[in-house]
Amino acid sequence: MRFSDQIPLLASALLAIPSLSSAFYLPGVAPTSYDKDQSVPVFVNSLTPGLSRDDQLHSVFSFEYYHTAFHFCRPQDGYKDVRESLGSILFGDRIYTSPLEVHMAKNETCQAMCEQVTFEDRDAKFTNRRIAQGYNINWLIDGLPAAQLNLDANTGTEFYNPGFALGSLDENGVALLNNHFDIIIDYHRVGFGGKDKYRIVGVLVQPDSRKDARAGTAEGEGANCGTRGEPLTLSEDGDTTVTWTYSVIWRESGTAWATRWDKYLHVYDPKIHWFSLINSAVFVVFLVGMVSMILVRALKKDIARYNRLEYSLDDLDGTSAAVEDGIQEDSGWKLVHGDVFRCPKSPLLLSVLLGNGAQLFMMTGVTVVFALLGLLSPANRGFLATAILLISAVFGAIGGYVSSRVYKAFGGEAWKRNIVMTPLLIPGFIFGVFFLLNLFVWAKGSSGAVPFGTMLALLLIWFVISVPLSVVGSWIGFRQAPLEGPTKTNQIPRQVPLMSGSLRTIPSIFLTGILPFGAIFVELYFIMTSLWTNKIYYMFGFLFLCYGLMIITSAATTILLVYFLLCAENYRWHWRAFAGAGMTGGYVFLNALIFWATRVSFGGLTGAVLYVGYSALIGFVVFILTGSIGFFASWAFIHRIYGSIKVD
Ligand SMILES: *[C@@H]1O[C@H](CO)[C@@H](O)[C@H](O)[C@H]1NC(C)=O
Repeated sequence: MRFSDQIPLLASALLAIPSLSSAFYLPGVAPTSYDKDQSVPVFVNSLTPGLSRDDQLHSVFSFEYYHTAFHFCRPQDGYKDVRESLGSILFGDRIYTSPLEVHMAKNETCQAMCEQVTFEDRDAKFTNRRIAQGYNINWLIDGLPAAQLNLDANTGTEFYNPGFALGSLDENGVALLNNHFDIIIDYHRVGFGGKDKYRIVGVLVQPDSRKDARAGTAEGEGANCGTRGEPLTLSEDGDTTVTWTYSVIWRESGTAWATRWDKYLHVYDPKIHWFSLINSAVFVVFLVGMVSMILVRALKKDIARYNRLEYSLDDLDGTSAAVEDGIQEDSGWKLVHGDVFRCPKSPLLLSVLLGNGAQLFMMTGVTVVFALLGLLSPANRGFLATAILLISAVFGAIGGYVSSRVYKAFGGEAWKRNIVMTPLLIPGFIFGVFFLLNLFVWAKGSSGAVPFGTMLALLLIWFVISVPLSVVGSWIGFRQAPLEGPTKTNQIPRQVPLMSGSLRTIPSIFLTGILPFGAIFVELYFIMTSLWTNKIYYMFGFLFLCYGLMIITSAATTILLVYFLLCAENYRWHWRAFAGAGMTGGYVFLNALIFWATRVSFGGLTGAVLYVGYSALIGFVVFILTGSIGFFASWAFIHRIYGSIKVD
């Protein structure tokens, strides 16, 4: 079998893992079995922006369900908070109880949620605007999001898309408010020793706008859910009364509980993923081939020549050919052997960045593998984010260790500063920006703002887990002998010649970063779309492969860059390697800006600030991650090649 045939095979095997593992019950997600007619709680979550009809994203804020302007019905004794994980709060979940009464396998034809409510003009304006921006309502029943049935035009398959529309726009652009909900719940019957139990395996909501829906007033009079086709509009210069109504339809389904998420986890356009994946795989094979060709051919020749030259200079009888050969061409990387391990500028900052980069690398690697094994299934809401947080806090130890070893190898003296700055500088910066952005959200009154308590919990995780572990890591690192380069560094630094063409600083950095970015470009697009529009991202198999390709391309391109730099007798490779590979993060940010220009249309400044701020933060994280990959790959490469030549 040829290699190219094996790639899809291997990849399909990897992609199949999540569906296999969904057969296991994860902690906290054991199935809930209900008796017939048992009450099933319905929870409500924040309203989130979706893509509007023209496929544009109009907002990045989410709003609490019980925001007063929406006038949704509340439970009679007030709504209560439903406990959530730290991660799900960070990602904007605000889950509360609701007044909806749903009983297992019991159809309800028409129920009013509460007496009629009145929208004043100000609230009507607010709600109409949210309808125009394509906001979705999010309910949760038995942990499943209430979804709308969508058809994928490309593959012709139906799938459940979480969330359902707050309203819609008619042909004239008038906002119609959905005030009636047909809740369609799929259930699966299982026998328990002669007694039937019921499990929920799918939730759909078909919302509709109905002007004449009324709650029953007199005793014994049922509610009236109105007529289809007579929509409800909210008047912006007067009061409008609205009655919220719902029906419940239970459908028996053959779907087992263990596979109930499958119809939610829809892979959009798998062809695009495959195409890009194979594209980048071919590209990586080409690149790695090129790098190894250079390394094996050129280096072998160089090393043989350098070593022969050495020999012939030692031995005066040596063949003159070798001497000539050597002297003529001895202008390569060997010339800088006395400088290549010279301490770079700002060694402290570089070592701190590299320590944090190593921490990020471990964290992303473990997260992606966890995700691949299906441990981060969307059934555990917010588990992904909580896991990322805790994993990265624990890997603080690695950050400290790597930072201190690198700093010691650079010959740095200010070890106390290194220990303090490693866990504080970068996380502090990220947290600071996050905090500022959150102030914006908070000022806007959106429920996406992270509550004060959660902020405090974050700080606590950071200072109680991450910082001490990092200090321990640094301490261990500093106690070890410094890493020595294979060649001695000269007293007097060589002059660095002027670089020309693509080896100049700016072009070389831009050129190096574009290749790893190419490897993650398509997957990044899907992650961004799902982040901003609250879709579930579940293509972890693809993500895993892309992540691997990104690591290989970062390493290979940076090694090439460093080799060319050294051949041009430029031994200042440290920062160049870091920035060159890190430029991938720069491209990620640029890409976000392009996405913004083409797919996003915000009215306000706050939305723009938030979008650009978060994109910059993501770009910065990718910068540190890929920069570190590039740096360490080049470092290993340099140790390797200078270790194999003889120098007196
Ligand atoms: C509920 O109503 C639907 C459609 O009217 C019907 O197909 C289904 O069997 C009913 N379910 C129960 C449990 O009565």
